[in-house]
Amino acid sequence: MFRVHRENHYFCVQIHNLTDKAMRHLSERLNRLAPSATLAMSQKSGEMKAQGIDVINMSVGEPDFNTPEHIKAAAAQAIAENYSKYSPVPGYLSLRQAIVDKLKRENGLDYRVEEVLVSNGAKQSVCNVVQALVNEGDEVVIPVPYWVSYPQMVKLADGVPVFVETGFEHNFKMKPEQLEAAITPKTRMLILCSPCNPTGSVYSKKELEALAEVVLRHENLYVVSDEIYEHINYIGGHASMAAVKGMRDRTIVVNGVSKAYAMTGWRIGYIAAPEWIVKGCNKLQGQYTSGACSVSQKAAEAAYTQGQECVEEMRKAFEKRRDLIVGLLREIPGLEVNKPEGAFYVFPKCSAFFGKSDGERVVNNATDLALYLLEEAHVATVSGDAFGDPACFRMSYATNETQITEAVRRIAVALMKLK
Ligand SMILES: Cc1ncc(COP(=O)(O)O)c(C=O)c1O
Repeated sequence: MFRVHRENHYFCVQIHNLTDKAMRHLSERLNRLAPSATLAMSQKSGEMKAQGIDVINMSVGEPDFNTPEHIKAAAAQAIAENYSKYSPVPGYLSLRQAIVDKLKRENGLDYRVEEVLVSNGAKQSVCNVVQALVNEGDEVVIPVPYWVSYPQMVKLADGVPVFVETGFEHNFKMKPEQLEAAITPKTRMLILCSPCNPTGSVYSKKELEALAEVVLRHENLYVVSDEIYEHINYIGGHASMAAVKGMRDRTIVVNGVSKAYAMTGWRIGYIAAPEWIVKGCNKLQGQYTSGACSVSQKAAEAAYTQGQECVEEMRKAFEKRRDLIVGLLREIPGLEVNKPEGAFYVFPKCSAFFGKSDGERVVNNATDLALYLLEEAHVATVSGDAFGDPACFRMSYATNETQITEAVRRIAVALMKLK
């Protein structure tokens, strides 16, 4: 049998260091949410750094590169030209046209500008879609390991996350049989992330076609295809679910400039989807946040319409780092290390260390291990628990090669002490 796990949203109230007053006075909806574990780890390592401790932060989910100069210049020009008023809720027409052109040029997809909605980062894009399509009690299939925010967004919409475990031995990819087994009459959505955060796994066109066959057998099922790491791909040829035959009208493509153009702080993401879904999200966004930052939109337009060399330069640097970190981690006895095909994370299996101790300190799970590595090796990572896989931990290699080498050296020393 496949392992499918449903979360009953009525019983998943989580208490995360909330005071009594906060528990009573904050909404139930909010108290149900878990805080972001990745941001929490970054914060903890930041606090240690502030105390003068030399912490290497491998917990962050953003490129260490600066935004390319021509994109910054476009933003400066937009400021000078007084792009300082509210933008249209779905984004400037010129940016949406640039996105339409990008989808055609890079993905072979045909969309109209009315089928594109720009938001404050791909995070808001996913959240909008979940709010727009999921009713109370609707089920949303999420392959494990998953990006931390997906289940929380589903819970915020009173939906029920249904987790499908993929596993290290299957390169963390969901098989069509597993998807079929997870679907019930209540299933409304599948959230698929390729290249994947946290594993770096990439679905091929063939693998997507096999999943699409299942999706197309269920008429109320939609796929949110999170392609934010599209350009950080080491096997070549990104495949989009929307390009699979029959899937364009069943897919909501999510993408943005954060990772490909080192623009995480600019907060520009988008969806490309059937017009009725875009209209629904537009209505929601119109009441919630309005259009995304005007200056950032002009910067994103430059990112899509000007030279793409910067994207390839950064991709190559990430690939070199991927090879370095995977090689070094594989030398550590007891760690099992996947070879990511995209994104900038590696997700080693560390369960061989569970039950071991360093003096008084016992490591019973991945959360203990991540804390041990932070306090003993001064390397910040993120426990696999946050991504639904408690046998692993995530390291981001969006940092320079010297830091990567030193971080892995420290981890090796610390893990060797566990007996
Ligand atoms: C899988 C995934 N989707 C979406 C996002 C959000 O990206 P953005 O910065 O565009 O909101 C992230 C950011 O970490 C991510 O890892």
